[in-house]
Amino acid sequence: MESVIQSLLGFADLFLSGLGLMIAAAMAILVVAISWMYFSDISQTHHAIRRNYPVIGRFRYFFEHLGEFFRQYFFALDREELPFNRAQRTWVYRASKNEDSTIAFGSTQPQNIPGEFVFLNGLFPPLDSEVIKNRPIHFGTHYARQPYSTNSFFNISGMSYGALSGPAIEALSKGAERAGIWLNTGEGSVSPFHTEGNCDLIFQMGTAKYGLRNADGELDKDKLRALESNSQIKMIEIKLSQGAKPGKGGILPGVKVDDVIAATRGIPVGEDSISPNRHAEIEDIADLLKFIKLVRDLSGKPTGIKCVIGQTEWLDEFCQQINRIGLQYAPDFITVDSGDGGTGAAPQSLMDLTGLPVKRSLPLVVDKLSEYGIKEHIRVIASGKLINPADVAAALCLGADCVNSARGFMFALGCIQSLQCNKNTCPTGIATQNRSLQKGLDPINKSERVANFALNLIKEVETIAHSCGVAHPNLLQRRHAQMINERGIPQSLAQMYPERTA
Ligand SMILES: Cc1cc2nc3c(=O)[nH]c(=O)nc-3n(C[C@H](O)[C@H](O)[C@H](O)COP(=O)(O)O)c2cc1C
Repeated sequence: MESVIQSLLGFADLFLSGLGLMIAAAMAILVVAISWMYFSDISQTHHAIRRNYPVIGRFRYFFEHLGEFFRQYFFALDREELPFNRAQRTWVYRASKNEDSTIAFGSTQPQNIPGEFVFLNGLFPPLDSEVIKNRPIHFGTHYARQPYSTNSFFNISGMSYGALSGPAIEALSKGAERAGIWLNTGEGSVSPFHTEGNCDLIFQMGTAKYGLRNADGELDKDKLRALESNSQIKMIEIKLSQGAKPGKGGILPGVKVDDVIAATRGIPVGEDSISPNRHAEIEDIADLLKFIKLVRDLSGKPTGIKCVIGQTEWLDEFCQQINRIGLQYAPDFITVDSGDGGTGAAPQSLMDLTGLPVKRSLPLVVDKLSEYGIKEHIRVIASGKLINPADVAAALCLGADCVNSARGFMFALGCIQSLQCNKNTCPTGIATQNRSLQKGLDPINKSERVANFALNLIKEVETIAHSCGVAHPNLLQRRHAQMINERGIPQSLAQMYPERTA
């Protein structure tokens, strides 16, 4: 009996020491595996989240993968997240990675959502030999000393250095060069990151005149004149308002104003800087038209305006005055921003409830210009949640010459819609000035994604255009699409917004 007990004890001893060894070995493997994951995460450049949050960041991809299964049973469907739903974002992510963007089995898009578009395919789509690859869009042909032409109807909307990080702007600049599209500087002027790529730049003049101001914050005409010799800057956009915060300027807090931001914007380091609600020298339509001419005359570049449309009466006066005093006072383009546009930070009431959505304002502006016979001279650019091919094609049908996207390109940079642009804590290093978070964003890798997104989107808009029977997206018209009305029935755009002539 004793010997049995002893051998049992001996076995237990052996087992426990074996178990101990096994646990120790497992722990060692775990430590090696975690170390390996840690070093591979911080040294890779493809995923900002993994680089910024080594090891733990991997759970995001795991849960994201599991989410596909859970959502089928418990949670929100693909089209229920805001401001951009998962279906919209997934399209951008896949396009940016050059992954197959086809879908299987059938559409998950409900066919009766008011405001959505349906395209009207033609019976005889153009053959490959019949499609038009390049169809230049001209700006400032008659009155600018340096007119500008581009082949791209899809470009990057204004987002300033300060709202976005240096590496993000650098990736946008290099990606824009690669794709042959323009990059709008946003109101923060041209930083060193904007010129990392040799892309076309649109200089945005905001109400604080960053980059073009004197010590009192007024327009410095010599600085504006000096833009003429900068061949990378192709046009100037005078920003009157943006969709996310119409009629609201802003404060750039002193803590954000480091050496580079101060030098770029022409403001003192470490001091708060205020953007007024409007340009101090523009009080009415007459002032606006004179200012447009002044900016074009001094810089030599095509000059346009950006605004979100709210009240519309001014459009008549605007067109009437242009016809009275001459087209040399007219803007070369108008960027119509949507009331639901994005920004780094804005009051909720302005962001949610002020300004017309671009679906409504775009045809309004296009029709007013046509009614007064000046549409041919003024290009119309649309922006506001136009991040998928169908959105862009619909804007072209409604009369836009070009479409700008801001947040679409943020997704291409790796934005995960964590809604923290105003907190300096953006986990992907895009909308933050925190250097340790910026480390996650590799500008070279992300520039490829920026270019892929733009090129794949353009390609799919071409596909829609060809399906509608036209040889180039800029030939799309209202008769090529219908919009679902409040009863869930598609209604002809041509009927909703009959084309006007002077
Ligand atoms: C982070 C961020 C910064 C922005 N900065 C500017 C700016 O400096 N000037 C401007 O006119 N619009 C700015 N916008 C607005 C965009 O240019 C654009 O008009 C708006 O977001 C609608 O386009 P989207 O829906 O493609 O983002 C910004 C938007 C975002 C998201």
